[in-house]
Amino acid sequence: MPVPVRITRVARETPSVATFEFDREFSFVPGQFVMVWVPGVDEIPMALSSASSITVQRVGDATAALFRLGPGDCIGIRGPFGNGFPEKKRMLAVAGGVGAAPILPAVVAGGVDKVLLGARSRGELLFRERFESLADLSVATDDGSLGFHGFVPELLADEDISSFHAILVCGPERMMAAVLGILSGRGCPEKGYFSLHRYMKCGVGVCGSCCIDPGGLRVCRDGPVFSGDILAGGEFGRYSRDAAGRRRPV
Ligand SMILES: Cc1cc2nc3c(=O)[nH]c(=O)nc-3n(C[C@H](O)[C@H](O)[C@H](O)COP(=O)(O)OP(=O)(O)OC[C@H]3O[C@@H](n4cnc5c(N)ncnc54)[C@H](O)[C@@H]3O)c2cc1C
Ligand code: FES
Repeated sequence: MPVPVRITRVARETPSVATFEFDREFSFVPGQFVMVWVPGVDEIPMALSSASSITVQRVGDATAALFRLGPGDCIGIRGPFGNGFPEKKRMLAVAGGVGAAPILPAVVAGGVDKVLLGARSRGELLFRERFESLADLSVATDDGSLGFHGFVPELLADEDISSFHAILVCGPERMMAAVLGILSGRGCPEKGYFSLHRYMKCGVGVCGSCCIDPGGLRVCRDGPVFSGDILAGGEFGRYSRDAAGRRRPV
């Protein structure tokens, strides 16, 4: 059953992203997610951006309904679920867009020495100041309004990947697939830990709606974080499935 929590604060992070803080802390591993019940609308998966918050991009019905809520309103939380990111000695993180949400608690926890952060434009760079205060930060913007003019995986191409024990990755799947391509090219796909966004219903491994090809791993239960050697050669970067199970290109 979802645990009812009350929203205490809504912080606007970018034009399309807001952080919803609530009045209860959840014990979690960075990268784990919760199922968020928006009363009367839907239940959707969201990474925890801290023990008591989610950071949400408005894309459709449920996220738009969340954006209409404010301090004092109630939502339901099930979880945390899934595996989360590993803990290694020296880590680099690559975050794109709202993919920075599960990366932030990993950086706050320590062990992430460098962050590569990408977004469409300067105003969409999520948690830029937080990352800057916690790690060595490089940014990339699609329109060149700040930092490197181009996509964030291009920044990774200039890094000495052998000096890191793990690369944590979350963002649009095309971006993550480009990162996996770079790691595979350097002969170390297993160093990458990718947090996948897939359509989910139950969140606990029962319904099968989040299974990924070719092995049928459940993103909610076996993931959402998978190492690159497991993802290489499968559906990752090529297609995902909608609510009816139909393939849709990434
Ligand atoms: C483990 C996990 C963690 C997530 N963490 C976050 C997070 O921290 N912050 C955040 O903003 N979002 C996160 N998401 C994505 C979030 O669950 C979806 O954006 C949300 O379910 C959309 O609901 P909606 O009703 O607003 O949109 P819908 O009306 O369902 O869809 C609107 C549009 O978004 C697309 N879409 C829907 N669901 C997904 C999805 N899972 N992945 C990619 N595209 C989708 C649809 O194809 C459609 O184009 C996470 C997803 C997973 C699986
Ligand atoms: S969402 Fe039901 S099995 Fe993953």
